[in-house]
Amino acid sequence: CGSMFRSVDGVLHVEGVSVLDLVKELGSPLYVTSRGRLEENMKAYMQAFPDARLLYAVKANNNLSIMKIISRAGFGADVFSDGELYLALLAGFKPEKILFNGNSKSEEEIRMGVRAGTYFSVDSIDELHVLSEVAVEEGEEVKIAFRINPDISPETHPKISTGLRTSKFGIPWEEVANAYRLAVEMPGIVPAGIHCHIGSQILDISPFVEALNRLFDVAEVLEDMGIDVEFLDLGGGLGIDYEGKGSPTPADFAAKILPVFEERKERLNSNPELWLEPGRSIIGNTTILLTKVNAVKKAYKNFVAVDAGFNLLMRPAMYNAYHRVAIANKMDREEEEVYTIVGPICESGDVLAEDRKLPRVERGDIIAIFDAGAYGFSMSSQYNGRRRCAEVLVEGNKYYVIRERESYTDLVGKQVIPEHLLKE
Ligand code: LLP
Repeated sequence: CGSMFRSVDGVLHVEGVSVLDLVKELGSPLYVTSRGRLEENMKAYMQAFPDARLLYAVKANNNLSIMKIISRAGFGADVFSDGELYLALLAGFKPEKILFNGNSKSEEEIRMGVRAGTYFSVDSIDELHVLSEVAVEEGEEVKIAFRINPDISPETHPKISTGLRTSKFGIPWEEVANAYRLAVEMPGIVPAGIHCHIGSQILDISPFVEALNRLFDVAEVLEDMGIDVEFLDLGGGLGIDYEGKGSPTPADFAAKILPVFEERKERLNSNPELWLEPGRSIIGNTTILLTKVNAVKKAYKNFVAVDAGFNLLMRPAMYNAYHRVAIANKMDREEEEVYTIVGPICESGDVLAEDRKLPRVERGDIIAIFDAGAYGFSMSSQYNGRRRCAEVLVEGNKYYVIRERESYTDLVGKQVIPEHLLKE
């Protein structure tokens, strides 16, 4: 599991802290993040891409403390909604380092971004019209990129493949010149870059190279139109090693991307900056989800019923995603039997890990689910009346609660009961 997650006398530790102590203190389920691992991941990107602008994809994990660490390190942010923009600003990301993404922005969202002074990735001509109107009303000049649909098919789950011709995102790359032609004429709009995103959890770098070439193809057309290309945004999407089979590092990524970038940049008059929007590869492997075993039963399979389900970690149910698991209090024991780990949600699809060989599992054991930092808590829900769990940040031998577990009144939320119903 690497140096930040390791077994000490059979007990899983995150940096210097025993996860059993954490569960004893703070209860289960519990998300635990290693700051050390996060710093390592950020450093790897910064070293591999010293001249690129790195925008952290807030959708992966929008915990404020985590985002604060990332913004302090110098990262900008990719936000996909008004709410993400609000949280990113609160966490200290500077608006001039924020790209406002999204294929369906409301006028309110657009106004919020214009007032804050973010860059915009524009996904349609309709959006361009609204953006121009709002920019003029607000007396601002907004720098934009169009999101192109690069028509590239990387090997990943169809639900997270975003650059296919059939996907809802972007403007077909062969047609985007018309959009820029329109944008050049529009008041309040400054065409400054080109954006694409081909998908997520991609382990083969060649589709990124293909996408980069598409960006340059479009850049050449823009230069002919007299546009100075300030940035080329290749999106996020570098996958992580969920299965323990190895995965490309940011350095591997850079080794394939940067030579192409430099070579093709030579042929331009502009001097575009490379922008990247990593989410998962920054935060994914920094975090585990701890969950307690409520029951073990032999039925069709050996089922281990734990207290976290797809309410807290949606990925296995939604994408058939694989997350490594271990028994946090039995790290040194021999594997004995094959178990299927299921959550407490009233749906048979609530499976976290299928057919895993583990040491003997008993009621009260603590299961650790690895690589849960990206699209874990940020996709959680209160389904089945389940309160969301706490989040903890570990720094060396210290830990800090960075989100408290929800209370029952959080389940009531913003509901109101009309007066007449109260009287019935
Ligand atoms: N930029 C854009 C425009 C994106 O759409 C995404 C992810 C990212 C950046 C960040 O990609 P990353 O580096 O994290 O791969 N919930 C799914 C993943 C959805 C990703 C959607 N877009 C999952 O749990 O696998």
